[in-house]
Amino acid sequence: MTKTALITGITGQDGYYLSAFLLEKGYRVVGLVQPLAHDDTQFLAPLTDQLDLRVCDLCDGGTLTRVLADVRPDEIYNLGAQSHVGHSFDVPEMTMNVNALGTLRLLEAIRALKMIEHVRFYQASTSEIFGDTLPPQSETSHFNPRSPYAIAKLSAHFMVKNYRKAYGLHASNGILFNHESPKRGEGFVTQKVARGVAAIDAGQQSIISLGNLNAERDWGHARDYVEGMWAMLQQDKADDYVLATGQSQSVRRLCEEMFKYIGVSLVWQGQGENERGIDANTGEVRIDVDPQFFRPLEVENLLGDARKARDVLGWHPKISFEDMVCEMVEEAKSCIA
Ligand code: NAP
Ligand code: GDD
Repeated sequence: MTKTALITGITGQDGYYLSAFLLEKGYRVVGLVQPLAHDDTQFLAPLTDQLDLRVCDLCDGGTLTRVLADVRPDEIYNLGAQSHVGHSFDVPEMTMNVNALGTLRLLEAIRALKMIEHVRFYQASTSEIFGDTLPPQSETSHFNPRSPYAIAKLSAHFMVKNYRKAYGLHASNGILFNHESPKRGEGFVTQKVARGVAAIDAGQQSIISLGNLNAERDWGHARDYVEGMWAMLQQDKADDYVLATGQSQSVRRLCEEMFKYIGVSLVWQGQGENERGIDANTGEVRIDVDPQFFRPLEVENLLGDARKARDVLGWHPKISFEDMVCEMVEEAKSCIA
């Protein structure tokens, strides 16, 4: 029997990779797109013929309930979110509404439609909920969120656990560390640097301005992470799992690695707001620090321990940081060419 998956946030990075993965497995894939976001579906262009797209906002509980009643999915992947951490300080109420209440609306729709026993639910939780808890962070680490984004996601995380325990819903939180790809939104640091490097290579830009160069992230590739999402819903028992590579890199090192692909070796001079990344051969400044990209509160170091996912799900990341970086820069260069 063909299974049906419903994906919120299908127009995002993970929505793209998860759709491709599930279509390949023979699923019928239904995706929710925001009412005013039709242009965004171009992003899904290679897949759109095979997808059933429905217009629905996570802030609209009535429409969510009607869509769920119509689609009757076997699996729901709740990826829809205001996902930019820095931006969440500017729009905290909207972030809470989409990320926390949006999840609750979905869970309540499942309950109201008496679908608890028939559906499996994946929640896009995040390593941001660990905040400044010292690495490595695992499922048992202390949650200490440091942004409206992380607070909203932690609320959703606990709501999912609550529906699992109170009503027996097969609902799992995937506590995912950063994962990137050529489909990454341009507001995130990997894509910003990849596109900046490609523009510098093409002579269209001379410098990339960034915020905190010291921050360390455990960066993997989205293609690997969507497989882990699916694996969580195939287990007899729902549970929460960290997905991570177990290696972290600083933003500074990310820049060095990306510039290597256009033959530029960076050296660093200065400190704090005066730090500069300089082309070792030409002396040209390629990176500077602009305080407008600092966050009111920062998460300095995320590094995940994904042993539970490895042992229970058999999941492990296959794509290295270096290969992910190479793919992003090459794709950014080909978009300019
Ligand atoms: P993304 O590219 O920012 O995608 C977010 C998706 O949510 C987009 O499709 C967006 O639609 C949709 N959305 C936003 N507001 C909505 C609303 N009010 N109603 C319905 N849909 C809405 O994020 P991603 O990188 O694919 O991440 C997927 C999920 O995993 C997110 O929940 C994110 O917070 C979480 N997560 C991501 C990472 C990571 O490193 N990528 C790590 C941990 C957790 P538009 O395209 O129309 O804006
Ligand atoms: N975006 C951005 N832009 N970040 C910068 C910049 C810049 O110019 N300069 C330095 N950074 C630093 C940020 O301060 C942060 O410490 C780090 O680079 C990564 O920032 P992002 O790429 O915006 O990602 P994030 O780690 O804040 O959040 C992503 O990962 C989370 C999982 O840990 C998002 O995908 C979240 O949705 C996800 O939950």
